[in-house]
Amino acid sequence: LDGSLPTISDPKTKEALLEAARIIRETEDTVAFPTETVYGLGGSSLNDKSVLSIYRAKKRPSDNPLITHVSSIDQLNRRIYEDSSSSGDSLLKNIPHSYHALISKLWPGPLTILLAVPLSGIKTLSKLTTGDQPTFAVRIPSNPVARALIALSDTPIAAPSANASTRPSPTLASHVYHDLKGRIPLILDGGACNIGVESTVVDGLSQPPSLLRPGGFTYEQIIALGGSDWTDCKVERRETVGETEKVRTPGMKYKHYSPSAKVILLVPNTDGTSSSRRIERLKEIIEDECTSQQEVVKTIAILTSSRLNNKPLKDLLHLKSDIKIVVESLGSSGEEIQANLFATLRKVDETEKVDLIVVEGVPEVDEGLAVMNRLRKAAAGSAVPF
Ligand code: TXA
Ligand code: MG
Repeated sequence: LDGSLPTISDPKTKEALLEAARIIRETEDTVAFPTETVYGLGGSSLNDKSVLSIYRAKKRPSDNPLITHVSSIDQLNRRIYEDSSSSGDSLLKNIPHSYHALISKLWPGPLTILLAVPLSGIKTLSKLTTGDQPTFAVRIPSNPVARALIALSDTPIAAPSANASTRPSPTLASHVYHDLKGRIPLILDGGACNIGVESTVVDGLSQPPSLLRPGGFTYEQIIALGGSDWTDCKVERRETVGETEKVRTPGMKYKHYSPSAKVILLVPNTDGTSSSRRIERLKEIIEDECTSQQEVVKTIAILTSSRLNNKPLKDLLHLKSDIKIVVESLGSSGEEIQANLFATLRKVDETEKVDLIVVEGVPEVDEGLAVMNRLRKAAAGSAVPF
């Protein structure tokens, strides 16, 4: 977590990274870049106009604060706290003790922590990144392209996910292009994001500490690795809150991860229902939906995970012959399902243009907590026991 610069051997990669770093450092514009979680839309956290460019490109409400990405703790101290005296262990001196174990074990990586807005550094960190909160969110990503970009620009980078506001987060450069083409000057294409959901957001400033957004690190990992401060960590379980309610994570009150098609989430229960009864149930859910929807449902995507994987669903369902069914497996392990989630939602919605998406949910443990958090939002209330 020191501040050393990366060595980049491929000349094309180097040229692209230097151009992206120049945009961040010298202009008020934005750059989309890969991280290990999802693609981010970055601009300087130190410049109000850059931050405004981010909100504008995404059409994001400006009271939803942004995560600042740094490449090292040294950079956080120098560029946000204006503190150049730190060295060795004292690098962590602006960071509350409750975070020390998490930082040493989980950074760089998909962990975002909240820090108090620095009083002395308030001149440098744009207030527009904090959406009126008394805190700012920060993380050190592990993706090498992200880290190189932040280090080369030597600028803390404010970056929300690089989707148009309300859409599923992008895990491929082509998703960013789909949503933001013509609105941003540059996308760095680093291939698929390997984690596939956003970072875990934790608040170690409140007592007891809380997990505000489940993400790339699981709740179980936070509890196991965070040290004694985190053993009674609370999980924020509310999916949405009212427009005017003051909350610790303003992102909660907005529509999220929404494909154009309606999404129905099948929430797994443990009542021992037989597999054939479950298929009957799925058929009923689909038929009900086809008769109750105003518009004619012609194409339905079924996204499967554990219970429905490997079943010849099209044959078992015996639906009316004019309904086309597209079956996509999200994967078998929690990590696979997490990595495929947004890309599969986008594929059936944007490419196949289905009218209805039925998703088989997973138990809410390990990666399942983050997966179900995103799916409940995508389904916006259409969740049925399964
Ligand atoms: O993995 C990620 O975190 C990605 C990549 C690009 O790093 N970024 C991301 O940013 O997901 P965004 O803006 O889509 O989500 C940030 C979340 C929002 O729910 C926001 O409300 C919350 O973090 N947040 C940001 N600053 C906060 C603060 N000071 N207090 C509470 N919540 C905050
Ligand atoms: Mg987002």
